[in-house]
Amino acid sequence: MNVYWLEQGQAEVPPHEDWLGAGERARLEKLSFSKRRAEWRLGRWTVKQAVSRFLPRASDFRSLQQIEVEAAPSGAPEVRLAGQESELTVSLSHRSGQCLCAVTAGNVNLGCDLETIEPRSDVFVEEYFTSEEQALLAQAPADLQPQLVALFWSAKESALKALREGLRLSTRTLEVWTGYGEQCGEWRPLAVRTATVGIFQGWWYCGAGLVRTLVAHPAPRPPARLFDPVYRPSIRDWCVAERR
Ligand SMILES: CC(C)(COP(=O)(O)OP(=O)(O)OC[C@H]1O[C@@H](n2cnc3c(N)ncnc32)[C@H](O)[C@@H]1OP(=O)(O)O)[C@@H](O)C(=O)NCCC(=O)NCCS
Repeated sequence: MNVYWLEQGQAEVPPHEDWLGAGERARLEKLSFSKRRAEWRLGRWTVKQAVSRFLPRASDFRSLQQIEVEAAPSGAPEVRLAGQESELTVSLSHRSGQCLCAVTAGNVNLGCDLETIEPRSDVFVEEYFTSEEQALLAQAPADLQPQLVALFWSAKESALKALREGLRLSTRTLEVWTGYGEQCGEWRPLAVRTATVGIFQGWWYCGAGLVRTLVAHPAPRPPARLFDPVYRPSIRDWCVAERR
């Protein structure tokens, strides 16, 4: 299965609300904490940018209003296009002013997650990781431990999102495997064994102090970045160029 990803930062989000749909504006009004408002806006912005590039369709503010992101009762994001249910699956994660969005066609299991690489306590590892994961971590060189812990944690969160459960499910019901298979570009393979739906295949990569993970079922090919649409000069630009 082909999956696509896009990352956006807080600075890219317009300060106004002209790009939000009516339902989204109503939802935003109910969010009172500024940190939550900021991450929620960044999430909506990133999903809209990802979907407009994936389809592709125009990305002016009016067109972005037509791509609405609603939360299902589980909390999972769902995309509506011009008020209609879409055949798209998206997942999103915000951390440290960055947002990662994964998108694919069809109604599938898809989850992505961004995690900061920082020291975590032994209690954290004992509480959230399986004994096999703890044994793997114990064998790893000390300087790699924070990255590995972030990677395992992020892969679990991606799987919890792909299951549409979130942390209602214990992270110890999932087991993460890495360190096998071929790297593809910046992405390396991983797998997460779940207690209910078998194994999710996925990918991870590290950069700028963050780990990104993405898992899906059916198994995803290496994730493809969604670039800005190709710049097409307007008639005006073309006339100016012709006169030179
Ligand atoms: C999913 C979850 C593990 C992610 O938490 P996190 O790592 O702190 O946050 P991230 O930034 O990585 O991900 C947050 C996004 O995950 C998505 N998400 C939330 N619940 C989800 C679920 N059950 N399935 C899939 N995705 C979910 C949302 O898009 C959310 O962003 P948004 O609320 O701005 O739309 C956590 O939110 C959770 O366990 N949620 C379910 C439990 C819950 O309390 N739900 C509230 C019901 S509305």
